[in-house]
Amino acid sequence: MVFDVITIFPDFFRSILEHGLLKRAMVAGHVEVRLRDLRDFTNDRHRSVDDRPFGGGPGMVFKPEPIFRAVETLKAESRGANFPVILLSPQGRLLTQAVAEELARESRIVLISGRYEGVDERVAENLASDEVSIGEYVLSGGELAAAVVMEVVARLLPGVLGNEESCEQESFSSCGQSVGGRKHGMLDFPHYTRPADFRGLCVPEVLLSGDHEKIRQWRRKRALEKTWRRRPDLLQSIELNDEDRRILDQLQRAACEAPIQRD
Ligand code: ADE
Repeated sequence: MVFDVITIFPDFFRSILEHGLLKRAMVAGHVEVRLRDLRDFTNDRHRSVDDRPFGGGPGMVFKPEPIFRAVETLKAESRGANFPVILLSPQGRLLTQAVAEELARESRIVLISGRYEGVDERVAENLASDEVSIGEYVLSGGELAAAVVMEVVARLLPGVLGNEESCEQESFSSCGQSVGGRKHGMLDFPHYTRPADFRGLCVPEVLLSGDHEKIRQWRRKRALEKTWRRRPDLLQSIELNDEDRRILDQLQRAACEAPIQRD
């Protein structure tokens, strides 16, 4: 997977590319990140990338020319290959695990880091093939968002996570068969490690029992319970088995008898 990141702050990315998952993915040859300084695609003396908005108002707006030139240069380099050109912006479609899975099927992605004041609309309308937001809040620039996209997509690429299981079982994943042999998209079950007793806070007995079937049931139940409390909306799209429905019935009944606070 090649990520081309168009940005006015290429140095912003250095530390995330020198640590953690992206670094490992790059060293192992799964990922290549090419940082493209937007100012290299300007053709004025001041290398200016923005200008005042038509119609007035505060702030500056990214000009279309350097961004068009940057993307056109990448397209020319790749001799006609087709790849998504994603503008990061708070107006984009929300980045979810499903969107990340869709992007992970590409072999190359161009990420354009915008600015919160705005990017000339002709970029979204006539150049980008997609507009993505990482959440319903406003960042001052798209660099953090581009980094998030690269991380969530890279970790889905085959071979990047050492242990495929950990990907399949974590919250929101639909990338494989979970315990119980069905796809799931619920929140993760709780995890514990040593010591078993930390200041009197004890790890649930079942996890120390060595009984794998009991542990599987406990995890499924805790995951369902957490999802029911915190993100009941997710339950609409989860394939539930009889055991799940029984657990949810119990939770509903308990809530009616003594209303349980949702987290
Ligand atoms: N730029 C500013 N805010 C953003 C957001 N929430 N997602 C993606 N890019 C952004």
